Parts: sequence; structure tokens; C-alpha cells
Amino acid sequence: MNAHDHAAAAPALEVKDLVKNYGAVRALSGVSMRVRRGEVVGLLGDNGAGKSTLVKCISGSIPPTSGQILVDARHVRFARPEDAREAGIETVHQDLAVVESMDVTANLFLNRELVRPGLLGRLGWLDKKAMERAAHEALDRLGIHIPSFHSDVGLLSGGQRQAVAVGRAVAWGRHIVLLDEPAAALGVEQSAQVLALCERLAAQDVAVILVSHNMQHVLDVCTRAVVLRHGHVIADQPMAGLTGQGLVALITGADEPLKGVRP
Ligand SMILES: Nc1ncnc2c1ncn2[C@@H]1O[C@H](COP(=O)(O)OP(=O)(O)O)[C@@H](O)[C@H]1O
Ligand SMILES: [Mg+2]
Repeated sequence: MNAHDHAAAAPALEVKDLVKNYGAVRALSGVSMRVRRGEVVGLLGDNGAGKSTLVKCISGSIPPTSGQILVDARHVRFARPEDAREAGIETVHQDLAVVESMDVTANLFLNRELVRPGLLGRLGWLDKKAMERAAHEALDRLGIHIPSFHSDVGLLSGGQRQAVAVGRAVAWGRHIVLLDEPAAALGVEQSAQVLALCERLAAQDVAVILVSHNMQHVLDVCTRAVVLRHGHVIADQPMAGLTGQGLVALITGADEPLKGVRP
């Protein structure tokens, strides 16, 4: 097997023994999981289980305390979110990281403004027109209509902001897309669009992680469920054969005696 075949056969993302402490709080307690190309993994768990912390570690927003992250079988250590983006990893965070004082187009192109080559070469000016066209396309694909691309995002509704964040991730996510409660502020129609986008990304061989409390959403689009409880992975199994009730039992531990969490 040459290096290229090896990378193609490896999972798009692998997390090994990831630990994250916030001071005395252990949010992740040795989490290991893999996500392959074309998979939509439902990352599930009760509030405080560690889902957002895991997403933040993978996306370079916070450094893990220990453990490894591998992208295409290569060890990575992202010092900043931009490093993860460069590796083709896009994230919609639960606490939407949009910049309220910038307009929709600027938010969609945060940190990757198109620069028109000109007399100044790489120092040329931002190509606003091209950015707006691409922003329109990205949101059109989502079936999302924003009154004005020149409105500051701070003036948009929660749902519209969430749509901008999802649009940004879908437009740029080449390899791995992490969605932390992407539909929480969306209506029924737009939630359905987000789910359809998850499936479309997977069909394009992107590896998708979807955090959701909506069991119907999870059952509809996820191919595998990874359940966290108190920072431990307590289940990792194909979605086939799982029911909403079964998922809820896994998440809450309702079906277990008071033995606590498996180490
Ligand atoms: N910035 C932080 N500082 C201290 N504790 C935190 C911080 N962020 C999260 N935690 C704690 O880490 C644990 C996991 O939180 P989180 O990853 O947000 O869970 P989830 O997304 O599954 O609800 C919780 O106990 C939470 O209170
Ligand atoms: Mg969370």
C-alpha cells in the first residue's frame, strides 16, 4: 500500500484518548472515535456530556489537555481555527461564531477573503463582487433567503444567523464538517434543508459530525451514533436497528442500574 492508498483507506478523522480539563472539571475523559468519508455520525449526549468540547478540540478552537487527533491518518495539532479550516474542516459552533458587526458576505468569507490579482499581485484588493456572488450561491443552495447581504449579522434573527453559519460551513467544508446543534434556532423548513445538506455533503465524501437533541433528525440522516456521557464514549454503533427510544435510553442511561459510567 503506498502512502496515498493508505490515506484513502484511513478514516477522515480519528480521535484517540482525548482528554480536556477545564481547571478541575474534566469535560472529556479519554474519548476515542473515528469518522469515515461519507458518514454522518450523530454525536449525542445529555447537556454537559462533552459534545461541544469535543467539537471545539477538533476544530482548533481549544487545545485538548492530552490525546491525539488524526486527519487522514496524519497527526494534527491545530493552534487556531484557521489551521483546521486549512485542513478542510469547517464547523458550526453551538454558540454561533459569527461576527455581529460584519455583514453577511463578510461573515461567509471570514478569514478567506477573495483577493483579485492585480497590479498589486497578492496584495490586491478584496474582490467584493465575487464574494457576494459566491455568498449568494452558498445560501441559495441552502434554500436560505436573507433580506440583504449588506445587513450586519447582528441585525439578523437567530435563525438567519444560524443559516449564515451553516452556509459558511457547507460552502467551505471540503473534508470534515462539524455541526453543533445547527438547527436549534431554525424553523421546520430550514431544519429539513440542513439535514438534506448533511446528506449531500456525505454523498460528496465529506465526513460529517452532527450534534443534535432531535432524535428524529438523528434517525433520518445519521449512519452511526456516538453517545457521550460525562466525557466518556458509552456507545458507538450503526444507526440501523436503533430507535428514538433506544437512543434516549443510551443518552440518559435510563435503562441501566446505578452502576455509573463504564470507564
Ligand atoms: N469554558 C469552560 N469552562 C469550564 N467548564 C466548561 C467550559 N466549557 C464547558 N465546560 C464544562 O465541560 C462539560 C462539558 O460541556 P460541553 O462540552 O459544553 O457539553 P455539551 O455540549 O455536551 O452540553 C460541562 O461540565 C461544562 O460545564
Ligand atoms: Mg453543547
